[in-house]
Amino acid sequence: MQQQTALTGIKPTGSPHIGNLLGAIQPAIEMAKDYKALYFIADYHALNAVKNPADLQSQIAQVAATWLAAGLDPEQVIFYRQSAISEVFEFTWILSCFTAKGLMNRAHSYKDAVAKNEAKANDPDFGINMGLYNYPILMAADILLYSAHKVPVGQDQKQHLEIARDIGQALNQNYGQDLVVLPEPMITEEVKTIPGLDGRKMSKSYDNVIPLFQPAKQLKKRISQIVTDSKGVDEAKDPDTCNLFQIFKLFAPPARAAEVAAAYRKGGLGYGQVKGELFELIDAFVAPGREKYEFYMAHPKELQEILHAGAAKARAIARPKLDQVRSAIGI
Ligand code: TRP
Repeated sequence: MQQQTALTGIKPTGSPHIGNLLGAIQPAIEMAKDYKALYFIADYHALNAVKNPADLQSQIAQVAATWLAAGLDPEQVIFYRQSAISEVFEFTWILSCFTAKGLMNRAHSYKDAVAKNEAKANDPDFGINMGLYNYPILMAADILLYSAHKVPVGQDQKQHLEIARDIGQALNQNYGQDLVVLPEPMITEEVKTIPGLDGRKMSKSYDNVIPLFQPAKQLKKRISQIVTDSKGVDEAKDPDTCNLFQIFKLFAPPARAAEVAAAYRKGGLGYGQVKGELFELIDAFVAPGREKYEFYMAHPKELQEILHAGAAKARAIARPKLDQVRSAIGI
């Protein structure tokens, strides 16, 4: 059988954090060993939220540098910017002609925005632009244009994958042929289980993240902000309900985690000491990547060259697919 394609888009909003690394970046890099992989920066999806050019540019660079620093090999993975492939936007229009408006009305993020307006007795569409409304169609184009079989995403993107399948199916059905491959989501479950500073899921929207390749000083500061109860050093503590320990467990060797759990129960181990050790562990874990990250952030030309080379490979897939579709639809 021909090798299957894995594809995912990375929205460049906010600085990548430890939860992104463990929940999304590392699994995707792992997956690239078994698939033909296309991973791209979804910069036009970000435009919707980021309207300041300097911010957008800096977030694109941060995300690209993070994936490279985390070990993405641009020789193995086709790594590019969504915006570099104009074929995607032509295809978006074609797909929009096969997308029921009602399907977009039911998309979660649009529905949430409407619900927020209604709760405040605003006009239901107050502040909502067509970029938000059409977001799932652009995402379907991202996926279908490259004949992706598997799409690794977080749980929050599951509906978008269903929408992409629905649109693809409508296209195939109308022309009576398998013009596009119907993609399957690969939901990366781990994302949910990585707790942030306050014990809720680590997420930039909760402002509870541990940064990834930022300077050590900043890392230390964030770790000191992990929320614990106020038990003193000598008191016995419960590792199972302690958020600090949950994070510690992710980074410590199992034997050391077991020791620390026992010391929690017995008393005599303070949270401050655990935080110090956690800092050392995370710092050692990110240090090699941090150097690479800093290199790319300081050398934007090198970074752009990698993305350009990736775009050329992506276009070699996108162009013939768009030509095939154009011909099938009679354009
Ligand atoms: N919507 C995705 C997110 O917010 C990003 C994305 C854009 C994407 N296009 C994609 C993900 C195509 C997978 C496939 O995370």
